[in-house]
Order: sequence, then structure tokens, then C-alpha cells
Amino acid sequence: MSDNRAVVVDPEAPGRLVLRPVAEPVPDRGEALVRVRALSLNRGEVRRSGMAPAGWRPGWDLAGEVTRAAADGSGPRAGARVVGLLPEGAWAARVAVPTHALAELPEPVTFSQAATFPVAGLTALLALARGGPLLGHRVLVTGATGGVGDFAVQLARLGGAHVTASARRADQEPMLRQLGAHAVVVGDEIPPAPKYDLVVESVGGRTLGTALGALERGGVCVTLGVSAGAEVTFDAREFFFAGRTTLYGFYLFKELGSEPASVGLRRLAELVAAGQLAPHVSLERPWTEVAQVAQDLMARRFPGKAVLTLD
Ligand SMILES: NC(=O)c1ccc[n+]([C@@H]2O[C@H](COP(=O)([O-])OP(=O)(O)OC[C@H]3O[C@@H](n4cnc5c(N)ncnc54)[C@H](OP(=O)(O)O)[C@@H]3O)[C@@H](O)[C@H]2O)c1
Repeated sequence: MSDNRAVVVDPEAPGRLVLRPVAEPVPDRGEALVRVRALSLNRGEVRRSGMAPAGWRPGWDLAGEVTRAAADGSGPRAGARVVGLLPEGAWAARVAVPTHALAELPEPVTFSQAATFPVAGLTALLALARGGPLLGHRVLVTGATGGVGDFAVQLARLGGAHVTASARRADQEPMLRQLGAHAVVVGDEIPPAPKYDLVVESVGGRTLGTALGALERGGVCVTLGVSAGAEVTFDAREFFFAGRTTLYGFYLFKELGSEPASVGLRRLAELVAAGQLAPHVSLERPWTEVAQVAQDLMARRFPGKAVLTLD
């Protein structure tokens, strides 16, 4: 009998998420077995948990220790501390993870920090890459107080951009400036000036509609989230009149077709180890509290990332 446990959808339970015994993972040749020590929650998977049928296992982000290396010899050795990404089911005590979605952690990086890298960190990293070299460019990050936005502001600043963060409330400005933002715009609309070379847009609705009118010539708006709303109207003339502007649809799991997750995860881990990037873990709880933390995330009761820890 397996003593593996996982977070599972139970429509009858408060918050719809419970811990349940599940089968032991059976790794393919290219997968390592990982004992999970920390995981983080993302808006998309919590949203899906609210609609998914009984028994569905959410979970994208994990950090832990390799207990058995992949049989094909790829990836980290047994005993390595790692961070990893799964398309679902990562919120379990033991999981099998393809080695192309695993990266070894340098010593100073904690499991809790690392658990924030996969979806939030990689999304920020790869979305910023759509704008090409950032040095001296003007970058706007919307939803800047959230998991993705927090990483995007820091990484854009590191890349040498002039960074503007957009937030809902004026009291969020000091936190965003501390993070590295040179300027902050408050409210759900982006003013038509100044113009931006790159917008990392995760809010949708009015924010996306107005951001499309704030692009510089040749500017790119990467749309990746709809936290406020999926339906958008925009002034098409403002958008094309700037000239050579692009709206880019970003979905992380599709982006990873061209570069394996392991590459970006390693870069993020190295930046944190070097003290250049600081994951914003504002809430850390035992994973037995997953249902409550998921509800707090959806209600936006904390900025940055929530991490759950396993014994
Ligand atoms: N396409 C992809 O591959 C991909 C990858 C990762 C994330 N996403 C999506 O991108 C979005 C951001 O992800 P995240 O992890 O950063 O989410 P998060 O941590 O929940 O942050 C949400 C951000 O949006 C802001 N916001 C503005 N209007 C909002 C509203 N009406 N409801 C909720 N938040 C609102 C929040 O501001 P406050 O702090 O003021 O609440 C916060 O800055 C989510 O929609 C997520 O599903 C997509």
C-alpha cells in the first residue's frame, strides 16, 4: 500500500481541495523521482480546480530532492536538490518529473524560493524575452504586485530596462519601487503616454485595451493573463498608428516547446544564488492548509507568491 499523498479535487470539501492517498509515481526512463519539499500555487491551476471533476490533481510548481535519478542517465543525480515543473499533479509528496523540466539548485537557494520559479518565474523570464534586448528600452509590467509581475519587474530592471509597474492602488507604489520599478501607474487604465517598447500584460480587460494604445513604434504587447477580464475592446487606430506594433499571445506550456523548462529554471536559480533576484514569498504554510491558501490567493489577500511546505 502506497503512503504517497497528493492534493486532489473534492467538490464536496470546503475549498474543493483535500489531501488524499494516491498511487506511487512510476517514472519513465527520462524522469527522475522527486520527494517534494515545497510547492507554490498559481492563479490558473486554482481557477481550474474550482471547475475540475472529483479526483483531478492540480499542481505545476515543485521543489524537492531527487530520490532516484532518471534511468536514461539524464538530469540530476540522486540526492540533488531540484526545482521542477509538471503540466499537472505536482502537488504530491512524491512525483516523477521529466529531466527536461528539472534544474539543480545551488546551495543558497531554498526550496521555498525555488518553488516560485516554475510558472511565475519562467513566465516573466520568457515573456520579457519576446521584447528582445531590454537595455535602455521602456517596459511596462501590469499586475505588478502579483506572482508573475513581481518577477517581471525585477528581471526587466536587471536587463537594463526603464521599468514602469502598473498597480491597482496607490499604497502599492512603495513596494513596487523597492522591487526596482522606476515609475508606477495606478488604476486599471494605462495612460496613452509615455509609450513602451514592451508590455508584459496579465490583467486583461481595460488594462490590456488601453495598453495597446501605449506602444512605441515597433512595440510588443505580450498578453498572458486575464485576472480582471477576458473581454477587451481597444482603439485599433491607436494600436496600428504607432507602426509595426505586435500583440503576442503567450502560454507558458506552449513556449516550452522551443526551450526546455530546465534552461530557464537554472537561470532563475543562478540569479537568486547570486543575490540579483529575490523571489517574493509573502505566505508560507504547511500543505495541509492548501484549500484556505488557494482561496486567499483568488481573493488577492497577499502580494507575490504563496508557498506550501511538506514535512
Ligand atoms: N499564459 C500563461 O502561460 C500564464 C502563466 C502564468 C500566469 N498566467 C496568468 O497571468 C495572471 C497573473 O498571474 P499571477 O500568478 O501573477 O497572479 P496573481 O499572483 O494572482 O496576481 C494577480 C495580479 O493582477 C492584479 N489584478 C488586477 N486586477 C485584478 C482583478 N480584477 N483580480 C485579480 N487580480 C487583479 C493583482 O493586483 P492586486 O495585488 O492589487 O490584487 C495582481 O497584481 C493570472 O491571470 C494567471 O492566470 C498566465
